[in-house]
Amino acid sequence: MDYLMLVNKTNGLGKYYIPNNLVKVKIKTGGGKKIYLEKKTYKQIKKLLKDINKEFMTEIVIDSGYRPYLYQENLLKDLLQEKQEEAYNSLAKPGYSEHQTGLAVDIGFYKDGHYVPKFKNEDFAKEFLWLKDNAYKYGFIVRYPSDKTAITGYIYEPWHLRYVGNIAELLTKENLTLEEYYEKYLQD
Ligand code: DAL
Ligand code: ZN
Repeated sequence: MDYLMLVNKTNGLGKYYIPNNLVKVKIKTGGGKKIYLEKKTYKQIKKLLKDINKEFMTEIVIDSGYRPYLYQENLLKDLLQEKQEEAYNSLAKPGYSEHQTGLAVDIGFYKDGHYVPKFKNEDFAKEFLWLKDNAYKYGFIVRYPSDKTAITGYIYEPWHLRYVGNIAELLTKENLTLEEYYEKYLQD
């Protein structure tokens, strides 16, 4: 598995890409959804969630993981009805979503018995700060930060974590998106 895979508005995966090491999420998920993740990503997000929930006495869970091409297509269809062109600022076209790699995890949480699907910065500022500072210890980055929307092409998504493995530390310390990392380190 290439944990550095760059998937964005210009680098797609195609309709038939399916990661070969998906595993079923066995811990509690948002709304009891059936979710699959890439194996290492799952192992690491479990540790992260255990630690953040212990730190803040919260119940933060996995809201979304691997999304097949057709699932993304349906999500986008629905959001286009609701938001028209604006949908493209927050949802990838099918074949262009990191969720199709199994390496992306959206988180949500239970609060007072209710499930809140997206982990909003305004509501959970402390928790989000913790993630921003600590996600790299588990191999994750916050993939769509507020100060990088022009580079990523997506609005601020504090709930969307991307597993990248060891380079997460460098990306976090140098405040780089995956796009900037490719440009700085992987081009001749
Ligand atoms: N929300 C992210 C950009 C996706 O749809 O993959
Ligand atoms: Zn996401």
